[in-house]
Order: sequence, then structure tokens, then C-alpha cells
Amino acid sequence: MANDAFIGWMSDIQHAMEVELARVLPSAESAPQRLHGAMRHSALEGGKRVRPLLLFAAGEMQGADRSILTPLAAALEMVHVYSLIHDDLPCMDDDVLRRGKATCHVAFDEATALLAGDALQTLAFDLASRPLPGLAPASQLAIVSTLAHASGYAGMAGGQAIDLASTGQLLTLPELEYMHSLKTGALIRAAIRIGALAGRGMSTDENERLDRFAKRIGLAFQVVDDILDCEADTATLGKTAGKDAAHDKATYVSLLGLAAARDFAAELREQAFAALDDFGASAQRLKDLADFIVARSF
Ligand code: IPE
Ligand code: IPE
Ligand code: MG
Ligand code: MG
Ligand code: MG
Repeated sequence: MANDAFIGWMSDIQHAMEVELARVLPSAESAPQRLHGAMRHSALEGGKRVRPLLLFAAGEMQGADRSILTPLAAALEMVHVYSLIHDDLPCMDDDVLRRGKATCHVAFDEATALLAGDALQTLAFDLASRPLPGLAPASQLAIVSTLAHASGYAGMAGGQAIDLASTGQLLTLPELEYMHSLKTGALIRAAIRIGALAGRGMSTDENERLDRFAKRIGLAFQVVDDILDCEADTATLGKTAGKDAAHDKATYVSLLGLAAARDFAAELREQAFAALDDFGASAQRLKDLADFIVARSF
């Protein structure tokens, strides 16, 4: 379980993310102030930064330099924040609370929230494609392509479309797993892949094992999100609890029930750990993060 060194490592990276995001986001004092303010409102001071943490863990395991990982992790986090802003809009989940603050469209307005999401997404790709000394151009191109693929129709956006279309429907277990693997799993998988691409190369077999870990833990992440929506309280979550049931969303809890969903998350954690077996001690950070993802309370 979490030890002091791991907690220290996590807070270092969370701090580095805050500093990098504050640096690259446009100033709230420059025009158009409302758009810039909305981008900063949603991206700064909040969130667990799980995707950057996974990117760093995979990158450091492969010997990547922090100066390379930092902007890539900030880019990935910006795509995630954009997805949250749009997810909260009235036309999607219609949420008023995110990361303990008013959602973007509540603090600003719907049109500004839409644009803040758009602008965060494009800034992410701008940042990820700026020259990074020490990173081979071919690796960087693969990173940008990985981020694009994971964000779009075959990843997060596609998963969100399935989520909306599935509201009120009774999905089968494979259908639910497919939806989760896109809407949440894809960006988590990309986090690990991008970290690894930023480091020294891996064999095909190592890549496959790391990707198996990423897929299992990506799915576990959304299963736990579904559980927390049902059993945690709004103050702890920093977002309104109980929304999935209220909106008749297809979730692991609605399909399996709370106890079986918990068992499934534990089973996914075991499968994720097993995928890392042959990496030995170098994979410890990823294992610690897997534990954090499954055991988290928010
Ligand atoms: C919430 O993601 C949305 C999902 C994809 C389930 P996180 O739980 O990572 O949210 P933050 O970034 O910590 O706020
Ligand atoms: C959202 O899933 C996944 C995204 C791509 C943003 P949810 O709708 O369950 O996320 P929360 O619970 O609002 O954070
Ligand atoms: Mg949603
Ligand atoms: Mg939502
Ligand atoms: Mg949720």
C-alpha cells in the first residue's frame, strides 16, 4: 500500500503539473479574458492528476527525463480537463460541481465552457508538438498520434457518444466494458503508452504487457468511478454524487450491483498486477498507482 516515498513522489508530480499548466495556459489578464479565465478555472487547482501520474510512472520506468514528461503530461491533462468541461454541460451530464468548484458553464456560461474545452484540446496538441530536446522526432510524432487517437472517435469522444446513447438502456457486460474502455480507458492507456514512448524503446512483448496493465487499470478506474458515484458523498467527491442513478446511466453498479462491482474492481487490480510481473521492481510505481486507483475515496 501507499508508503511515504510514493506519496512524496505523487505530490511532487501533482505540484509540477500545477506549475506547468499555470505556465502554459493563457493569462486571465489578457484578452479574451473570459475564455482564458474559464480555461484556468477548470485546469488549475484541482483533480488527482491520475493520467499525468501514470504517464510519469511509465516514463520513469523507461528512463525518460522529467523535462520531457512534464509538457506531455500537461498536454494529456488538458485533454482530460476539456473532456470534463464538456461532460458537465447541460447537453451531457448537466453537472454543477466539479473538483469542489462550480462547473465551467456555471462559473462562466455555456458558450464559454464549450470554447474553453475546444481551446484546451488544441493547446494540448500545440504543447505536445513543441520541440523537446532529447526526444526523437519519430517518438514525438508517435506520442502526438497516440494522444489524438485516444481522444477522438475511437477513444474518449466515441465512448462519450456511446454513454449518451446508452442512457436508460440495459447494456450487456461486453457492451458496458467496450463503452468504458473508450470513454475512460483510452486516455489512461494513452498516458502509459506516451510515458513509455518518451523513454528508451521496449520490446514488442514488453509493450504488450504494459498495455495489458493499462487496459485493466483503465477499466478499473471507471468501475471505481461508478462505485463512488453511488456510495460516496458530494463533499468528498467534489462532484455531485448519485448522478448516474438519477440520469439512468449504464454503469457497472447498475448492471452488477455494488458488491459485484467492487469484486470486479479487485479482480481487475489483480489482472493489472499480473501483467507487470516480469518487470520486477521497476514497475513498483505503476503498482502503487493501481492500488491508489482502486482504493481511492474520491
Ligand atoms: C473523472 O476523472 C472522469 C472520468 C473519466 C471517470 P478523474 O476522477 O480522474 O477526475 P479528476 O481529474 O481527478 O478531477
Ligand atoms: C466521464 O465519465 C468520462 C469522460 C470522458 C469525461 P463520467 O460522466 O462518469 O465522469 P464524472 O463522474 O462526471 O466525473
Ligand atoms: Mg458522463
Ligand atoms: Mg459526468
Ligand atoms: Mg462518473
